[in-house]
Amino acid sequence: MGHLVPRLFLCLTLALCPLLVRSENGPACGSLEINDIGDFRKLENCTHVVGHVRIAYVDFTALNLSLISFASNITEISDYLMVYRCPGLLTLESIFPRLRIIRGQALLFDEFSFVVYENRNLRELGLVELLRIQKGSIRIESNPRLCFVETVDWIFLMGNATRQHYYLKHNTPPSHCPICGSLSPDYGVNQNTSDYCWNLKSAQLRPQPPRLRNCPVACGNNGCDSAGKCCDRNCVTGCSAQNCTLCGNFKSRFGCVNQCLASYEIHKRQCITTKQCRDLGRIPLTQGYRCAEKCPGNQKEVLDAKGILHCQLDCSGDFHVTVAEDLEALQDCVKINGSLTIELTNIKVEALEVSLENIKEITGYLKVVHSGQLTSLTFLKNLDSIKGTKLVENKYALYVVNNHHLEHIWPNNHQVVVQSGSMYFHLNPRLCYEKIMALAPSLKSVQKVSVVDVSPNSNGERVICGAGVRSLNATVDDVNSTAVRILLDYMDWDGMETLMGYSYFYKEAPQQNVTMYDGRHGCGHDNWLMNVVITQSRRHVISGLKPYTQYAYFVKTLTRTDYHMQLDAYSTIGYFQTLPDRPSPVMKLHGSSELSSEILLHWWPPLRPNGVISKYVVTYEKQNVTEKQAKNYDNSSPQNFTQLDCQCVEEEPYYSGPQADDEDFYNKDQIAYEDALPNLIFVSRSQLSRVKKEFDKVIDYAHLIRTRKEEPPKPTTTTPAPTNESLENDRKAAENYEKFRLDSELSQRLAQDEGKEQYNLRHAMPKCQDSHASVGQQVEEKCVLEEILEGTQLPGNKHYYYMTNLEEASFYRVTVSACVEGVVNGCSTPTEVLLKTWSRTNRTNAN
Ligand SMILES: *[C@@H]1O[C@H](CO)[C@@H](O)[C@H](O)[C@H]1NC(C)=O
Ligand SMILES: *[C@@H]1O[C@H](CO)[C@@H](O)[C@H](O)[C@H]1NC(C)=O
Ligand SMILES: *[C@@H]1O[C@H](CO)[C@@H](O)[C@H](O)[C@H]1NC(C)=O
Ligand SMILES: *[C@@H]1O[C@H](CO)[C@@H](O)[C@H](O)[C@H]1NC(C)=O
Ligand SMILES: *[C@@H]1O[C@H](CO)[C@@H](O)[C@H](O)[C@H]1NC(C)=O
Ligand SMILES: *[C@@H]1O[C@H](CO)[C@@H](O)[C@H](O)[C@H]1NC(C)=O
Ligand SMILES: *[C@@H]1O[C@H](CO)[C@@H](O)[C@H](O)[C@H]1NC(C)=O
Ligand SMILES: *[C@@H]1O[C@H](CO)[C@@H](O)[C@H](O)[C@H]1NC(C)=O
Ligand SMILES: *[C@@H]1O[C@H](CO)[C@@H](O)[C@H](O)[C@H]1NC(C)=O
Ligand SMILES: *[C@@H]1O[C@H](CO)[C@@H](O)[C@H](O)[C@H]1NC(C)=O
Ligand SMILES: *[C@@H]1O[C@H](CO)[C@@H](O)[C@H](O)[C@H]1NC(C)=O
Ligand SMILES: *[C@@H]1O[C@H](CO)[C@@H](O)[C@H](O)[C@H]1NC(C)=O
Repeated sequence: MGHLVPRLFLCLTLALCPLLVRSENGPACGSLEINDIGDFRKLENCTHVVGHVRIAYVDFTALNLSLISFASNITEISDYLMVYRCPGLLTLESIFPRLRIIRGQALLFDEFSFVVYENRNLRELGLVELLRIQKGSIRIESNPRLCFVETVDWIFLMGNATRQHYYLKHNTPPSHCPICGSLSPDYGVNQNTSDYCWNLKSAQLRPQPPRLRNCPVACGNNGCDSAGKCCDRNCVTGCSAQNCTLCGNFKSRFGCVNQCLASYEIHKRQCITTKQCRDLGRIPLTQGYRCAEKCPGNQKEVLDAKGILHCQLDCSGDFHVTVAEDLEALQDCVKINGSLTIELTNIKVEALEVSLENIKEITGYLKVVHSGQLTSLTFLKNLDSIKGTKLVENKYALYVVNNHHLEHIWPNNHQVVVQSGSMYFHLNPRLCYEKIMALAPSLKSVQKVSVVDVSPNSNGERVICGAGVRSLNATVDDVNSTAVRILLDYMDWDGMETLMGYSYFYKEAPQQNVTMYDGRHGCGHDNWLMNVVITQSRRHVISGLKPYTQYAYFVKTLTRTDYHMQLDAYSTIGYFQTLPDRPSPVMKLHGSSELSSEILLHWWPPLRPNGVISKYVVTYEKQNVTEKQAKNYDNSSPQNFTQLDCQCVEEEPYYSGPQADDEDFYNKDQIAYEDALPNLIFVSRSQLSRVKKEFDKVIDYAHLIRTRKEEPPKPTTTTPAPTNESLENDRKAAENYEKFRLDSELSQRLAQDEGKEQYNLRHAMPKCQDSHASVGQQVEEKCVLEEILEGTQLPGNKHYYYMTNLEEASFYRVTVSACVEGVVNGCSTPTEVLLKTWSRTNRTNAN
């Protein structure tokens, strides 16, 4: 590092350092995708990349790196640098020895400007000349051999450390890495070892401002020049923004600037005048102030009177937005002459807001599908009208399907007129039917929206919709070790009118603290498991559960659709625990013999105990086998497999994509909206009780009259005073009505109890009182004999056993099984091994 100090010194004082100036006017090239060795030719002659560099799946292992040079002259990358899965690559210094700045003007996944991920052999980053990563986050992860990661001053590199982040994970731990300057041949110089370096040879370049102390407070960490003027952070190479050789953002005639104003951006790094832009044979774009080579996707070329080329916005066509690049074509559009389809894979909603905010009109249709991360369509802030000159399936101008987190449609108090065509909404589980139907008046050519177009069943079933909420009383009726029967109260008379069935939600809950919305995350999954039952039966069996495990559950009604008020009922969250069952076999059974008469046996508890292990049972007997037979003896697996014995790696039943707390889940921000839990969910108790509608039983005629009187007063002037005759008719009508109500309620109750037997749970039979009961007796009394356990019984917390008084140099067949408390014959299938005692003769020989 000795040679670096003088150079750095020079650069700072003269600002004329040849190295720092070199790339200033070198050739630029576009984004580079390097996917095999041959692609490195693309780096030739290139000093700055306008775009990104992605190096992925390039295998360097077979190459003699001392023969081939990949060293590029690239000093700048305007967007981002990604290096992914390049085995054999040892250092980035071999590719980017001169890289000085990564600007992060466009980011990978809208977030990262520098990503080094899963490179098996990478030892060091070695970006020895890097001075700045202006925008975007840094991710150096899962490079098992990588050192000199923590030795880089990442904060120093960042353009704005309050907005950028760095993630350094799963590389070689710093404690297993050399420190800066250690092992240097030039030990003397290294006494002044810098704390920061890119590898053993190269300290990190960290040009310091001329002064850090006694500067005006406003200068902060940027320091000031000798005159006390604050240094400009945007000048990467020095202190003054006026004559800076490398600007963090843009270089203009007036020095470093953050934005090109009244000038035109070129190569994402410089602001030039109209004339300069024209002189380069390019076109200055008034929209966005760019100096472009040709008109961008959504602008067409027009010649003015003087024959000069201009670009004019042209937003015609059918636009399909899935990734951020697709938004370019829509930039600045006010009217889309065509249709817009939104099917997001990896775009931040903010990016949509920025690009689509000007759109006022779509002449065709608007289609929003499979966009899991959208919560609303409010990014179309200024959309006023969808013309519907072109329709989806010749019918729909607004087509919204399968958007898992969509909860709202347009901005509040904003109407979007649909001139022609209808709307189609399905599979938007968090979007309430009422909100969709509220759009019906804005459909100018459609009288009635049918259930086929908008279904209350396929929308909003994951939130509580509607003005009111009914409550559902769900209780656990019976449980065995793998299943539970849930019983609901009878649905009341008018509830039955709309009832189609129920959804039963359940999940493992070690603690009784779950809420209905636990485990939601941006990929569009809930981790509640769900059984949907289209029957009016008030019983349901949830099966396939784990024994001896606590679960949480709740139930929700599925109601019919053609009612304008969808009154879904929810139960509160309840808990139950499944019963214990036989455990899986004990694991890792092995023994060691130190004495010729003893074997010390060890084992691990069962993978799935399925209850409280009350004891272990150990048996052993001498086996007359030869050495050869013993070798063939399968020591590993228990003999008779049952499903419980399966030792396979547990499936993760609730795993549905990366979890929110999973670092691998790149777009963390997508789930930020999770914090804004819909306030719909927790309907207060008082509201529940108020809304719950009890059927008014008509007890007698007097009661009927009374209850009627409580109804809002009707205009009475035209009603004649009741005569005796009319009173008698009323009485009869009330009687008939009550009869009808009772009849239909009875038949509805029968319907809800239908097929009771099919919901029975199978229970393990109890043990017989008579311990010598015959098979006939067992069948008659529905009981089982308790098996007599042979062998030594040990307490359930002991996991070893000394077998003593054994014969020397002999084989023993040993079995161990685990037994669960409270389960008849609840011992696991025995796990078996063949073990041999020490031979005294051989032992002495060995000594
Ligand atoms: C680099 O420049 C040389 C000389 O001008 C030229 O021969 C070569 O083709 C260029 N390489 C690339 C990849 O453009
Ligand atoms: C880098 O620049 C030097 C000097 O201009 C030149 O000799 C060399 O070929 C360039 N390398 C690449 C890969 O372009
Ligand atoms: C690589 O090339 C150099 C120079 O020719 C040679 O000395 C070295 O042995 C080669 N290494 C391998 C692994 O082939
Ligand atoms: C850095 O970002 C923060 C947050 O956006 C902003 O408030 C601050 O002004 C920025 N600082 C600089 C030097 O640009
Ligand atoms: C080490 O650095 C300090 C301050 O940066 C300097 O005063 C000192 O002379 C240096 N020592 C050596 C041996 O270079
Ligand atoms: C830097 O700019 C200032 C003000 O524009 C000027 O006075 C100074 O001479 C310049 N320095 C160099 C090295 O060009
Ligand atoms: C719920 O049902 C159970 C069993 O049917 C009953 O004991 C309980 O009182 C009911 N609770 C309410 C609030 O109705
Ligand atoms: C429930 O409690 C456990 C243990 O206290 C905790 O780890 C878990 O995060 C809690 N879950 C919720 C949803 O609060
Ligand atoms: C053990 O097996 C061998 C051969 O299989 C037999 O000759 C011997 O008698 C057996 N010994 C006992 C004690 O069973
Ligand atoms: C498996 O169990 C059956 C019935 O219990 C028994 O007849 C058979 O011998 C067992 N097989 C083994 C390999 O233990
Ligand atoms: C629990 O009951 C269900 C339903 O009858 C049955 O399928 C299951 O086998 C039972 N579980 C056990 C361990 O017997
Ligand atoms: C003792 O060891 C020898 C070889 O080391 C082996 O052939 C012999 O079977 C062993 N004897 C006993 C009793 O295990």
